[in-house]
Amino acid sequence: MKTVTCTAPVNIAVIKYWGKRDTSLILPTNDSLSVTLSQDILHSKTTISASETFTSDRLWLNGKEEDITKNKRMHNCFRETRALRAAFEEEERRHGREVAPLSTWKVHVCSENNFPTAAGLASSASGLAALVFTLAKLFDLSTNMSYLSRIARQGSGSACRSLFGGFVAWEMGSEADGSDSLAVQVAPESHWPDLQALICVVSDAKKGTSSTEGMQNTVKTSPLLQHRIKEVVPARMKQMKQAILDRDFETFANLTMQDSNQFHAVCLDTLPPIFYLNDTSRAIIKLVHEYNNASPDGKLRAAYTFDAGPNAVIYAPKEHMKEIIQLVAHYFPGAADGSYFADPYRILQSNEALGA
Ligand code: DP6
Repeated sequence: MKTVTCTAPVNIAVIKYWGKRDTSLILPTNDSLSVTLSQDILHSKTTISASETFTSDRLWLNGKEEDITKNKRMHNCFRETRALRAAFEEEERRHGREVAPLSTWKVHVCSENNFPTAAGLASSASGLAALVFTLAKLFDLSTNMSYLSRIARQGSGSACRSLFGGFVAWEMGSEADGSDSLAVQVAPESHWPDLQALICVVSDAKKGTSSTEGMQNTVKTSPLLQHRIKEVVPARMKQMKQAILDRDFETFANLTMQDSNQFHAVCLDTLPPIFYLNDTSRAIIKLVHEYNNASPDGKLRAAYTFDAGPNAVIYAPKEHMKEIIQLVAHYFPGAADGSYFADPYRILQSNEALGA
């Protein structure tokens, strides 16, 4: 029996992925870009054991066993990593070296999040990234992250970006087999230590429309999505990368808020429309704009972004974060269970920590 444990962080997109051109390989309709959050605050921790005595692949999520017989995405990750392991074993044997036949053994996976899964925070991204990274370690595979990101992508699209710390782009690629649809690091975690993130848990209810289902309805019915993927995102990706490299918060903040708003506009343009924001989310949007308008030097001090749910993530330079937390706590004392996850020192996590 062999056992390995790893953790992987959550990422929050500032240029959103929404729409697939191939639903089984999980190939997106546009590039996306995210910031990886510190593992101190949010992470998935996964332990995997492989043994010749196990009779089936099994998963325990937060202590409860899940039925994975029909979980195609998990099986994609098992199949791809086992194929790489089988090739590795063959190579080792060809050189006369002994190697355990792990590619033929079943695995037991135990995964837990250090944050409430029900809070609707990006748990699939960190969970699937942790699964693929732990399998790679277990099978002694290369841990080239872009390479592994192509496998994590087939577990959940956004998971491919959680293999890197820092600022990460998912390049949509153009090949039909998905070989060039992978994650690359735009800048490491050390690049912009002054940038911080605050997660406001507006509601911990499970979302009504899953991302997977919602985005394909958008692809089928929204004319605005066509405009977004052709005209808007390509230029925005270039501007966002440059803003990050320049540590230009003004541009970063404007693009982040615009992209979140366009993503939710595209949801509204879907038939039937998808509503992820609620009244509290909209009040947070208003509060951030008012806070920015009141800035003494006229510079932006905060930027919001919302994924497929009502919870807000606010990015801000360190000097303003304390005030923002006070404002949010003052105006929204009853939000969800009152939990605000603030990332006090760094928002980013190094790659090495994935293997810790
Ligand atoms: C709004 O990665 O959860 O968070 O690929 O179907 O698993 P699947 O979808 P998922 O979608 C994430 C959508 C998003 C935007 C983003 O993270 O880029």
